[in-house]
Amino acid sequence: MNIEETLKKNNQTHILDALNALSGAEHEKLKAQIEQVDWDEISKLIQEYVLRKPVTEIPADLSPAPYFPLEPKDAEQAEFYRKAFDRGVELIRSGKTAALTVAGGQGTRLGFDGPKGTYPITPVLHKTLFQYFAESLARVCEKYNTTIHWFIMTSELNDKATRDFFAAHNCFGLKPETIHFFTQGFMPAIDYSGKVLMSAKDSIALTPDGHGGTLLALRKSGCLDLMKKLGVKYISYFQVDNPLVPVSNPLMLGLHDLEHSEMSSIMLSKTNAHEKLGNFCVTGGRLQIIEYSDMPDELAERTTNGKLDFIAGSPAIHVISVDFIERLTNGGRLDLPWHRADKKVAHINERGETVKPDAPNAVKLECFIFDALPLATRTIILEADRKECFAPTKNATGVDSAESCREMLCARDARRMELAGITIPRKADGSPDCIVELSPRKVFDDEDAIAFFKSNPAKSPERRSSTAYG
Ligand code: UD1
Repeated sequence: MNIEETLKKNNQTHILDALNALSGAEHEKLKAQIEQVDWDEISKLIQEYVLRKPVTEIPADLSPAPYFPLEPKDAEQAEFYRKAFDRGVELIRSGKTAALTVAGGQGTRLGFDGPKGTYPITPVLHKTLFQYFAESLARVCEKYNTTIHWFIMTSELNDKATRDFFAAHNCFGLKPETIHFFTQGFMPAIDYSGKVLMSAKDSIALTPDGHGGTLLALRKSGCLDLMKKLGVKYISYFQVDNPLVPVSNPLMLGLHDLEHSEMSSIMLSKTNAHEKLGNFCVTGGRLQIIEYSDMPDELAERTTNGKLDFIAGSPAIHVISVDFIERLTNGGRLDLPWHRADKKVAHINERGETVKPDAPNAVKLECFIFDALPLATRTIILEADRKECFAPTKNATGVDSAESCREMLCARDARRMELAGITIPRKADGSPDCIVELSPRKVFDDEDAIAFFKSNPAKSPERRSSTAYG
């Protein structure tokens, strides 16, 4: 079927009109975009997700998911954790692990114009998120005398800016051949009448297809094949907005391996019933994450002996087996469910004028990586201490903001300095009364901090001072 027939059949004739009004390079550009979209599939999704608002079904048998606790429950489990940690280290040392950062999102809430990874985050030196991860990875590689390849998922919207940023900073000291950018897929934005929006006279309004797009994008980009060639078995997956995450977690990797898990996740105890974290749940014997926005209040608030039943929240930190991705994407398709998000999408109207809406005017369709969990034959969850792994930068101020993230980075580094025997002045509420920043290039974990200050003795920081170390 040709373009004209396809667009007519799928009620998108305004795009055909736009195409017919163009010539030369503009015509070719729009034509190429049109050809990349699966219009029959879009029509189905419009019926299912745009013209009606799908209600997320909550299974009746939903129960809280079991997890490996932060503190081992007995001596036997403590021994198992030790064994798992050693196994994790062995996997890292032998080059069987890679890191993957999802960085394709638009970061609208942060109000920052540019790829989120280029946002300056550290409290003293203002290192960017990308630099922080890069230095951290460099330190892990040095510590374990290995190479960890870093896969970074971008979207069409920020791919060039991201690559340029790394090039301009000499990849922050990492070998360029160990950094692999790949671009996620996109979906057209659709208005409430079911029409695909145009962002310019020669362009459809395209939005990234959600971090669920990672799996297929890994295959389509050739990164999955590369991982197999490199001998990578397991991927440490984390979000670009969380600099506190350990970029490689020996205990988690080891447990994943020893338990023959296909996809493993870190869980945090939620601070309250409505904390904005996905909830780990089990239904029909399968692990599933139910987004905070979809969780019914009565379930979110349910307690037993004063403790939330659904206490396990997701900081979006996973270990994923390469073989699992291979199995899921075999055949070049992966049908994860779609999720609807109502957004303000700037577009041009039929007169060619730009419209910047004040209220949501369109639907963005995304799929989520955690919807792969129920497809795994085995999964595990490991509890972690949020102070050591989760400081998301979602907003400019307030909860989960750049501000709170800087405070958490400083608090973690202050704790590490105390472990190394350096006194930290503290305020009445217990928080550090100074700003400190340890270089991730020198300090990856507590052990590193102790060793670093042994060979680089430091005085106790002055109250209200601001100091970077390393
Ligand atoms: C996300 C999780 C939530 C988790 C929380 C922890 C979803 C839907 N929810 O919430 O379960 O508890 O993080 O912080 O993910 N991204 C892409 N491409 C996209 C969309 C997003 O790469 O198309 C990346 C972003 O760059 C970011 C991450 O995915 O690194 C999270 O996206 P975001 O939209 O910020 O998710 P949250 O709603 O904050």
